[in-house]
Amino acid sequence: METENSTAAGRDFSERLLNWYDSKRRILPWREDPSPYHVWLSEIMLQQTRVETVISYYQRFLFVLPDLEHFAAAEEHVYMKLWEGLGYYSRIRNFHKAAVQVVEEYDGKVPSDPAVLKKLPGIGPYTAAAIASIAYGVRAVSVDGNLLRIFTRLTRCGGDIREKETRKAAEDYFLERMQERPGDFNQALMDIGAAICLPGKAADCSRCPLSVYCLAHEAGEETDYPAVFQKAARRVVPLTVLRIRIGEKLCLNRRPDQGLLAGLYELPNVEGNLTTEEVRAYLEHTGAAGLIEQIEPLPDGKHVFTHLEWHMKGYEIRLKDSPQTAAYAAASGWSVVDSEALRKDFSVPAAFSAFLALD
Ligand code: ADE
Repeated sequence: METENSTAAGRDFSERLLNWYDSKRRILPWREDPSPYHVWLSEIMLQQTRVETVISYYQRFLFVLPDLEHFAAAEEHVYMKLWEGLGYYSRIRNFHKAAVQVVEEYDGKVPSDPAVLKKLPGIGPYTAAAIASIAYGVRAVSVDGNLLRIFTRLTRCGGDIREKETRKAAEDYFLERMQERPGDFNQALMDIGAAICLPGKAADCSRCPLSVYCLAHEAGEETDYPAVFQKAARRVVPLTVLRIRIGEKLCLNRRPDQGLLAGLYELPNVEGNLTTEEVRAYLEHTGAAGLIEQIEPLPDGKHVFTHLEWHMKGYEIRLKDSPQTAAYAAASGWSVVDSEALRKDFSVPAAFSAFLALD
């Protein structure tokens, strides 16, 4: 019976891909003996590093730490030394933590379920699917940018490859066609993504075993995929930052526990770029009437976050050093701090540094 997982088209796709892999695959050491530990090690090394660089590191690592038990029991300086030069050292630290966890919680047996693997430090969806499929033959698709490029070309999918929906569509597409040898199936796609189905004009369709299924190739449009989308423009937020002085002290406000710069301290600020008169009106309205000695504009500041930009006007405000001002500051929820406390005890994010570095 033909099920969704075993359509004739899917079988043909799988056969063609695996036949190609059998004759054209890259010969790589972790493919010779794909034990869970070997596959895991190779996948962690390959997360940020090119295949050609990984090979010698992989061999040396296994020479010193040949199995999971040795690795889990190894001292930090031993495995750190073996990683020296590969960079991204959180990879090896997480890998070791996860190895200890597998020895302690899973009796030294690397889990085969991608959902369980994903709970271990340093293992994301791609790596979990790679380990499960290559070491255990579990049907799971390793989705990364290369695979998404292949997918969007095969199907002429115009979706944004940064979107969850596109990743899910790619996963479903390949899962349906992953009929046998899931590990080799994934690794065949990895090889095609690395050397054949390259970005833009570098695509070498004449060598691709999947070109017969490729709708973009058929239309002569392989360079149009994946579709390129403008990054969403950063939202510009105009802000007025108030450097409020009481004597030699400065007023700081604590940001909310949730959201941008959560829980950090800031100079009090208001949305919008206010004029001197608007600042005065704002302060008086919030209870500072009769307390303001001086308001002076400061040089403008700008801070760029991932999704937004603050365009800041700044003012230095001197308030009378009086019990009424202390009450006003307290009612506003501010801490009134001297420069030493500011340096030692209050974290103020860099976004405000232009207005703090004025002394
Ligand atoms: N990149 C990540 N995993 C890989 C693998 N198993 N073979 C080749 N390239 C890879």
